[in-house]
Amino acid sequence: MTTSEAVYDALKGVIDPELGESIVDLGMVSSVAISESGVAEVGIALTIAQCPMRGFIEGETARKIRALPGITDVNIITSAMTSRQRAELMSGARLRARENAQPTKIHPTTRVVAVSSGKGGVGKSTVSANLAVAMADHGFQVGLLDADIWGFSIPRMMGSDARLEADDETKLITPAVIQGIKVVSTGLIIESEETALMWRGLMLSKALEQFLLQVDWGTLDYLVIDMPPGTGDIQMALSRLLPQAEMVVVTTPQKAAQKVAVRVADMARRSHMPVVGVIENMSSFTCDHGHEYQLFGSGGGAELSHQLSVPLLSQVPLDPEVVAGGDGGQPVTRAMPSNPAAIAFQQAAAAIIKLLPPVEEEGCTGRLAKLLEQLAATGDVPPVLAANN
Ligand SMILES: Nc1ncnc2c1ncn2[C@@H]1O[C@H](COP(=O)(O)OP(=O)(O)O)[C@@H](O)[C@H]1O
Ligand SMILES: [Mg+2]
Repeated sequence: MTTSEAVYDALKGVIDPELGESIVDLGMVSSVAISESGVAEVGIALTIAQCPMRGFIEGETARKIRALPGITDVNIITSAMTSRQRAELMSGARLRARENAQPTKIHPTTRVVAVSSGKGGVGKSTVSANLAVAMADHGFQVGLLDADIWGFSIPRMMGSDARLEADDETKLITPAVIQGIKVVSTGLIIESEETALMWRGLMLSKALEQFLLQVDWGTLDYLVIDMPPGTGDIQMALSRLLPQAEMVVVTTPQKAAQKVAVRVADMARRSHMPVVGVIENMSSFTCDHGHEYQLFGSGGGAELSHQLSVPLLSQVPLDPEVVAGGDGGQPVTRAMPSNPAAIAFQQAAAAIIKLLPPVEEEGCTGRLAKLLEQLAATGDVPPVLAANN
C-alpha cells in the first residue's frame, strides 16, 4: 500500500519546467491523502491561478501517482498561492539559484536592471539608453547590455559603430565605452555575413550567456539590460544566470499594452525576478501651444503598477526630441537634459537608484566601522580619524 510519504517522493520527480525545481521543493504540494480504496487526493498550490504550466503540472502529478502500487485513482485539487506563499517560494528559489549560479563576469555587488515589455515598439531600448545615461550622470559606473540579440538598436541610439574586441591574453571581450558607459551588443560584433551566420546558429540564450560569462565588465554599480520583447528564452536564461536581476516594465498608456505587460511581469515573478516598478512611456504629447494630448489613451501605467503592487517610476511624454536623440546617437537625457522627456527619464533613474541603492554604498558604513575597530585594536589609528573621536 502506498503511503503519503511515497507520494511526496514520487512528486519530487515533477519538475516545474520554468522554475527548474520539483513541485515538492517549491512547496507547491499542499496536501496528500490516500483513501482506503486507494484514491489519492493531492492539493497543488500554483504560483498564480492562471499559471501557464498548470496543465503540465497536473498531468505529470497524476501520471507519477498513478504509477504507484495500490493507487486506483487520483484527484488533484488546485489552488493559487497567497502572495505570502509566493514570496516565500520566490526567496527560497532565488537563494538556491544564487548558490548554484554559474560564475558570470558580473560582480555580485552590481545591481542588474532588466528593461522589459510585453511587445516591441513601446520604447524599451529608448528607456534603457536614457536610464543608463541618467545613472552615469549620478557618477555611477554603468553597463548597458543589449539583450535584444537580433533586434538590437543600442549601438544606433548610443551613436557608435565601435567593434568589440577580445583581449589577447584573457580571451575576454572588452565592452565598448560609449559616452562613459560600457556597452555590449550583437550590433557591435556582426560585421560580415559570415559572423552573422555564426551567431544565428547560436541559441539566443547562448548569446546572452556569452555576454555575461565572456565579457570583462569590471566592477559596475548598475547593469541596464535592454531585453527583447515578450517572455521567453532570454528572460529564463537571465534569471538563471543572474539571480540578482530585477525588472523594470515599460508600457504605454494604452490598456492593450498594459495587458501584455502583465504577462511579462507574471513570467518575471515565476522566474523569481522582482519587478522594481513600471515606466509609462509615450504618456502624452504637448504641442507648441501648450495643449496636452493623450494620443495613446491614459492610465495604463498607473493601472499596471497598481495591478503589480509596484511603484509607477515615471511617465515619459511623447516628444520628437526623444526620436531625434535615438536616431542621432545622443540620448535626449544627454543631448537636452532640460527637455520634459529627459527630466522624466532622470526621475525614473533616481527612483530606481533609491529603490536599489548601490550595494557598495549600503555596506560601506559597516566596512568603515570594522576598519576603525581593527585600527583601534592595533593602536594604529590614523590621525585624521583619531581627531574625530
Ligand atoms: N517618449 C518617446 N517620445 C517619442 N518617441 C519615442 C519615445 N519613446 C520611444 N520613442 C520612439 O519609438 C520608437 C520605438 O522605440 P524603441 O525604444 O526602439 O522601442 P522598443 O525597444 O520597445 O522596440 C523609436 O523610434 C523611438 O525613438
Ligand atoms: Mg528595442
